[in-house]
Amino acid sequence: MRYDTELAPAIVLRRSRPDSRDQPPALFNEQALEAYRSGMQRCVERVRDTLTRARNPCSGIEPHELQPAFEAIDLDRPLDDLEASLDELQRLYLDHAVYFHHPRYVAHLNCPITLPSILAEAIATPLNTAVETWDQSAGATLIEQKLIDWTAARVGLGEDADGVFTSGGTQSNLMALSIARDSACEAMPGHPGNRHHGLPPNYRQLRILTSEVSHFSVQKAAALLGLGYDAVITVPSDASKCMDIGALETALNECDEAGLIPFAIVATAGTTDFGSIDPIPAIAERCHQRGIWLHVDAAYGGGLLLSRRHRHWLAGIEQADSVSIDYHKTFFQPVSCSACLVRDRRQLRHITYHADYLNPRDQAEEGTPDLVNKSLQTTRRFDALKLWMTLRTLGAERLGDYLDEVIELAQQAYRAMRQRDDIEVLLPPALSTLVFRYRPDGVDDDSDLETLNQQIRQTLSRRGEAVVAGTRVDGRFHLKFTLLNPMTRLEELVALVAEITRAGESLAASSNRPSPVWSQSSC
Ligand SMILES: Cc1ncc(COP(=O)(O)O)c(C=O)c1O
Repeated sequence: MRYDTELAPAIVLRRSRPDSRDQPPALFNEQALEAYRSGMQRCVERVRDTLTRARNPCSGIEPHELQPAFEAIDLDRPLDDLEASLDELQRLYLDHAVYFHHPRYVAHLNCPITLPSILAEAIATPLNTAVETWDQSAGATLIEQKLIDWTAARVGLGEDADGVFTSGGTQSNLMALSIARDSACEAMPGHPGNRHHGLPPNYRQLRILTSEVSHFSVQKAAALLGLGYDAVITVPSDASKCMDIGALETALNECDEAGLIPFAIVATAGTTDFGSIDPIPAIAERCHQRGIWLHVDAAYGGGLLLSRRHRHWLAGIEQADSVSIDYHKTFFQPVSCSACLVRDRRQLRHITYHADYLNPRDQAEEGTPDLVNKSLQTTRRFDALKLWMTLRTLGAERLGDYLDEVIELAQQAYRAMRQRDDIEVLLPPALSTLVFRYRPDGVDDDSDLETLNQQIRQTLSRRGEAVVAGTRVDGRFHLKFTLLNPMTRLEELVALVAEITRAGESLAASSNRPSPVWSQSSC
């Protein structure tokens, strides 16, 4: 015990350091609880004051205007005072933040978030629980596991399903495709598996099929998995932007003829631009016939699992081998909060690695639930608490109702927009997006329309009046509303469309005058 007695004075010495008595607590512990409470109070007041003042969804500031303020900051010279750092933060961030809860924020898949989920952060962050092993997390591990089991049951994946929380749909898609690839390669005669030996010699024949309007994370995953973008075959979609089953058949037959190995089909339940849901049952049938892994990217449409009106739109999802769900989209949770689920928990072995210092094999064999055994990440936040607090405080039905409201709002907005001669809406909404462009009488040229619509978007953004997305459909630029705010009223969207057309009219009228230097960035 010589070691212990040597250590003891060091501990005493550290506890009696003067800075712990004379200075406000800097590290969180039981002595810092009052400072935590009062500091939180000041942060909450900042948010309150900022939001009470904010009229617009963004300030419209551009990078070159904000950048100089950052250049003046010396990170080696702290302000030594919370109020001073908050003042600084106000100028650098809060005054120009983009507010997703604002009715005129209609750009990307960002949702307003539930109050219990925010309060969960006030618990999870100070405790700083890391959920990778049981010995770091205890109940947090079981909370995450219970939510995974609950989600898998809602999907209908069966008794053997499992999964893990992820940082988002991108990571979930990567994880699912990595497992699908390794599972396919493991079954190849003469190949002992990717984990120890790397990819088999015929890896260049591996293919992933997905619709032409699926999320770019499929391509990204293919590249990260050593297969390259070229390993992704994009299947044409039909008029509703859903994967065309005839085209899928053709693509599969072409793979056969070319000696290619299609190992996964990614069906999207809620495409980013159109909200379209691929025909999952028909895709599942092809997967079963050919022994191909079916991954359903339900990052956007996953919230339908809770919908009382539209759950049936996800029919067939229960046949998936893996599913991506983004709680931080249609479950109204803060970023990050997502999951990757698999039908057969044994498949998770493809991403397991046992390290003596963290998650030894014997610990797993004894039944210790170390979540790191099934995650791409090691140290991982307790993101599950947000969803847990939401479900236990508000309930799942409330979330489903929010999504139903948003879907209804999109349909109403579609009908209202269709009544205008100067707005061309591409498709009826499948979930809650509307892809459209301002098209005044007499302007038919696609490049003129592109310039006009780009400028409308930039103008509204620059004035801080609205954040509208832009996308390209068949090479043509369009504006996009992504509606995820159940509190937004139809009148607010109608007024926004009127604002868009007013901006368009004045831009079109000024187009003969010398053109203004429009900025390329938006807020
Ligand atoms: C269909 C779809 N899949 C995957 C993703 C990626 O999700 P994340 O941004 O959470 O990584 C998105 C993001 O918008 C998406 O729309």
